[in-house]
Amino acid sequence: MTHTLHRGGIEISTDPSRLDIDVIYGFLTRSYWAEQIPRAIVERSLANSICFGAYRGNAQIGFARVISDEATYAYLADVFVLEPFRGRGVGSLLMECITSHPDLQGLRRWTLLTRDAHGLYRRFGFDEPRNPERFMEISNPDVYKTACSPDEEKKRSDPMTPE
Ligand SMILES: CC(C)(COP(=O)(O)OP(=O)(O)OC[C@H]1O[C@@H](n2cnc3c(N)ncnc32)[C@H](O)[C@@H]1OP(=O)(O)O)[C@@H](O)C(=O)NCCC(=O)NCCS
Repeated sequence: MTHTLHRGGIEISTDPSRLDIDVIYGFLTRSYWAEQIPRAIVERSLANSICFGAYRGNAQIGFARVISDEATYAYLADVFVLEPFRGRGVGSLLMECITSHPDLQGLRRWTLLTRDAHGLYRRFGFDEPRNPERFMEISNPDVYKTACSPDEEKKRSDPMTPE
């Protein structure tokens, strides 16, 4: 079911049919955390997440997505508000809609990574990990920069393809 929140002319909605992939891909592929992410990967990530769009009228001005089993755990990713609309509470409205989503209640843990927006997330209950020594990760920050294009991938899997 679609979860929505309206305030001050801004709407947050989980309706996947409203997502503007040009806006989302356009931002993410230039972002500090997903630089050069291919459009096909963005599309796959949207298809497998609960996506939250922020809209002024029908124009998308912000985005966030949650990866979750909807029972125990959720990971918050790809949060952004387009630059001209920042500092007016859109990020907070996104967070309010995310944390009130009926399928994301009673979870044992939420996590996220951020370079500098800790203040925003702190307001919604996030804090530094209590036991950081327990966290482990596989990190591959250059994965999109080193990935080959779909054409190159095809050539590699079919060596008979002419150069
Ligand atoms: C982070 C971001 C989504 C916040 O959106 P926003 O619409 O500007 O947020 P709000 O207007 O609701 O701001 C809420 C509060 O968080 C604070 N805040 C927002 N962004 C912040 C940042 N980068 N660093 C520190 N505090 C921040 C604001 O100062 C504001 O506090 P105030 O009400 O006391 O002024 C937006 O700045 C953005 O898109 N940044 C670039 C992408 C990014 O860094 N995303 C986070 C990756 S995890």
